[in-house]
This record gives sequence, structure tokens and C-alpha cells, in this order.
Amino acid sequence: MSLPHINPTTTKAWQALGAHFAETQADSINDYFAQDPKRAEKFSLAWEDFFLDYSKNKINETTLSLLIDLAKEVGLEEGMKAYFKGDAINQTENRAVLHTALRAPKTASIFVDGENVVPEVHAVKASVRQFVEAVISGTHKGYTGKTITDVVNIGIGGSDLGPAMVVEALKYYENHLKVHFVSNVDGDHTQEVLKGIDPETTLFVVVSKTFTTQETISNATTIKEWFLQSAQPEDVAKHFAAVSTNIPAVTEFGIHPANVFPMWDWVGGRFSLWSAVGISIALAIGYDGFEDLLAGAHAMDTHFKEAPMAENMPVLMGLVSVWYNNFHGAETEALIPYTQYLARFAAYLQQGVMESNGKHVDRTGKGLDYQSGTIVWGEPGTNSQHAFFQLIHQGTKLIPTDFIGFKKALHGKTDHHDKLMANFFAQTEALLQGKTEETVKNELECKGMSAEEVARLLPFKVFPGDKPTNTLLIEKLSPKTLGSLIALYEHKIFVQGLIWNIFSYDQWGVELGKQLAGNILKEIQNNAIGNHDASTANLLKLYKQ
Ligand code: F6P
Repeated sequence: MSLPHINPTTTKAWQALGAHFAETQADSINDYFAQDPKRAEKFSLAWEDFFLDYSKNKINETTLSLLIDLAKEVGLEEGMKAYFKGDAINQTENRAVLHTALRAPKTASIFVDGENVVPEVHAVKASVRQFVEAVISGTHKGYTGKTITDVVNIGIGGSDLGPAMVVEALKYYENHLKVHFVSNVDGDHTQEVLKGIDPETTLFVVVSKTFTTQETISNATTIKEWFLQSAQPEDVAKHFAAVSTNIPAVTEFGIHPANVFPMWDWVGGRFSLWSAVGISIALAIGYDGFEDLLAGAHAMDTHFKEAPMAENMPVLMGLVSVWYNNFHGAETEALIPYTQYLARFAAYLQQGVMESNGKHVDRTGKGLDYQSGTIVWGEPGTNSQHAFFQLIHQGTKLIPTDFIGFKKALHGKTDHHDKLMANFFAQTEALLQGKTEETVKNELECKGMSAEEVARLLPFKVFPGDKPTNTLLIEKLSPKTLGSLIALYEHKIFVQGLIWNIFSYDQWGVELGKQLAGNILKEIQNNAIGNHDASTANLLKLYKQ
């Protein structure tokens, strides 16, 4: 079954949402709270260790019910069935989109081209477990008989961002292995990582779905050459492993078949951390921890599949975001985790969200006359408060913001955690309430300022408030809750792509830059600059001088 292709703007719900927007545009969230004492309760949702409060949004009950009508009219339910069932919903590449199969239990049956993929997924998982446990326990030795102390993941995009984000996020749970990441083709990146490691005790994992990505192959080649300065070619087998769908290319690169872990074309790079691509995560926290991450994601999959729309976290978050993107004209969304461990979360989701939903034609190939993918960005709180929060509070742009916080501190430093969380709660409250003229006036008068001085400062100190936020309050950061959190945002991407009538699982736009870079590289190396626009030609000339 292919995905429905309904232009959302032609639905009754869209028309109704347009009219509803015109009526409610000027409403204030603060008034909504004043009118309904049960608002916080009504617009919140508890699921397992998660609590989502979405009451501080520019929505009322009508908004929500119209958004749910929209989801129904564009065929979200049918789309979800096709997604989970393994239908080729990535139609421009004729592929299924089955990262959910990677975290499905052994007993599940999910078919791709008539074949149940679950047994193969579990067979690969068993071989990853065996390899990972041999490295962690020290039975897998390096070429001089020493145990492995460091792991370097060589990959880019989905073959880097997911593992790098999760390894950082779960640092509290890490074992003795130090895990490093090399992604950029910038030789300085490789050099800096190589500076701190010893070839005798380092394992290199080359991760590339296609095994043709320029950055990864260049970095892997440079690193292999560096390794061979002190080791022999036969030692590569003990120090290099790979994850790819392109087994012939991996073999040609010289990695021992026993250290090669397959993945499948039905796993998109940006959703691949659940496959053997996540091997560096398993190495960092142990295979059981990796399984907990998968279990958390699977629990969110089940919630998404089974919960009614009005109680479905990914659906609600996706719909509220569509409301801002398509009706309020918000261009971006911020993601602010209140934990330093999630420092890479926004960067990771930038690929997930923007590579998926940054599309300009619909599922019939027709140009969109409405907005698709949002721009996502963010940094952890409280650092971000001292950096860009000013613009969210008092700037002219509407920036719906997700606040992600945890009830428990991992290191048990209660005083720090209370301070962190006080900021977490205070920010959403400040964004909501703002600061009225009256309050500012009182404050200034109490400081003994003259009436003139008060009048002069007033406009600068007043906050309009009414800035929308979602609050996700999670019990504690663990492999399981992190798995659920990532899956929540993955499904939000699906919901939005389905509504926007776009294909979320291809990424043709990134190909052009790769092709041009290939051509330019040849020109640079052959000292023969070809035909370019005047600006590029001039820049290339300057580079070559
Ligand atoms: O930049 C595009 C992209 O294809 C991403 O989608 C992907 O995650 C990344 O490159 C890396 O690709 P590969 O895993 O094939 O090296």
C-alpha cells in the first residue's frame, strides 16, 4: 500500500482551521488559562515515565479537534499502518521505512517483499552482541595482545550523529571504553582524534550505509594508512570493523568478513542508530544497555501505533507543530533539553527533521503551495538562557519551544538539579506570562525612579509573554527513556510528513552538492578549472593561487 496523497489544504479540516485561526489569532494563552481552571489537566498526557504538558500553546479544544480531523482526512491512520507494516512508503526509492522493525521483539513478523525481516534483524543483533562483549570483556585483543581501550566511529550524517548523540547522552552509563567520532572530511578532525589514541589498543568502526560517502571513505583510508605505519596488513582484522549495506565495498576496503555487520536499505541513515550502526553505543554502555534503548523506542512505537489520536504523544506534538508552521507562520522550533548530556540532541534532530521534511514537492510531484518542514535548533538549558533566549522572550519571531527535563539527577547532586529545574520551570512560565506594564512600573517605582525615568524604561522592560512551549518532564535519563524520546520525535516527523503530503524518507537535495564537489575536486587536483558561475570561478582561482 502506498501513502495517500491528499493535499492537506483541500481538506475540510484545513479550511476550518483557517477560519478558526482568523478567529483565535489574537487570543492569549494566559486568557485560556484564566477561562478554564482544568486547562493544564486537559492539555497534558502521562505515558510511562513521560509527562507531556502542552497546555502552554495557542490552542483550545476546537483547535485540537480540528487538527485531529485534519490528520484523519489526510489518512494518517492508513499511513501509519503502511509505515509499520513495511510497505514501500519511501516511494521515490521504492523502499520500506522500517527502523521500527529494528526494535521489534523476536516474536514479531514484519514483511519486506514477502520475507519476514525480524529473524535476520535478531541474528545480526546476536553477532553485534558477541563482538561487543568480546571487546568490552577484553577477550578481543589488539595486534600486540593488548586489550582495546578506545573506539573510533568513522561515519557521517546518520552514520555519526545518532551514535554520537546517544554516546554523549548516556555518558553516565559508560564503561571503560573511550568512544571517539570522526566525521568531517576536514583532515584536522581526523588528526585531532588520532593524536590521543594508540593503534595497539584502538578499534575503528567504519559506518556507512552506502560505503561510498566521500568523507567516510577518505577518513577510513587515512586512518588505515596511519594504523599501518605501526602495524601489518594482517593486523587490520583485529582493529577494523564495518557496518554497511554494501558488503562488496567493505570487503574491498580490506575489513575482515567476521567484523562486518550488515544493515538494510529499508533503514534510512538518519534513523539507523537502532541497527548495527549503533555498535559504538553498545560498546560504550554495554550490549544490555543498547537493548534497553531499543526497548524504550519499541514502547514508544507501541504507544504511537495504539493510542487514540487525542492521547497520542507523537500525534499531538506533530499536530501542534503543524498549527504553528502552517497557520501561525512560525518558521522555526527550538528544542531545549535541561541536561548537558543531551547537548547533541538538537543537532541530531536537525538531520532527522530537516533531511526528512525539507521537501518542496508533494507526493504527486507537484510543487507545494504551503509550508513543509520546520527548522529546528537548540542547545541545552541553562546555557541557552544566557545565549539566545532573549530573542524567544522579546524578539519579533514566534518560536514554539520544547522544554525537555528530567525529574531525577543522575549524579544525585540535588542542589544543582533543583537549580537547573527551577530554571526549566521558570522559563516556560516567563515565556507564558511575560511581564506586564503594571509589574514593571511597580518594580521601577520601588527602586525610587522618577515618573519620567519609569516611562522611558517601560517599553524595554515589558514582555508580551504568550510564547508557546511544550514541557516534557521525564522521570530520569536512562537508555530506555532516551530510546522513547528519540522515537517520539521520529514519529512526529512521520506525522508531519504525512500531513504535508511529502515523501519524508528520501534526501535528493543533498545529492547535487556531492556531485558538484566531486567535479570541483577533479578540477582542483588537475589544476583545470572548468565552467562555473563567475563567483565560484573567481573563488576557485583564489584558492589555487
Ligand atoms: O548527506 C546525505 C546522507 O546520505 C545521509 O542521509 C546519510 O545519513 C549520510 O549521507 C551518510 O551516508 P552513508 O551512511 O551512506 O555514508
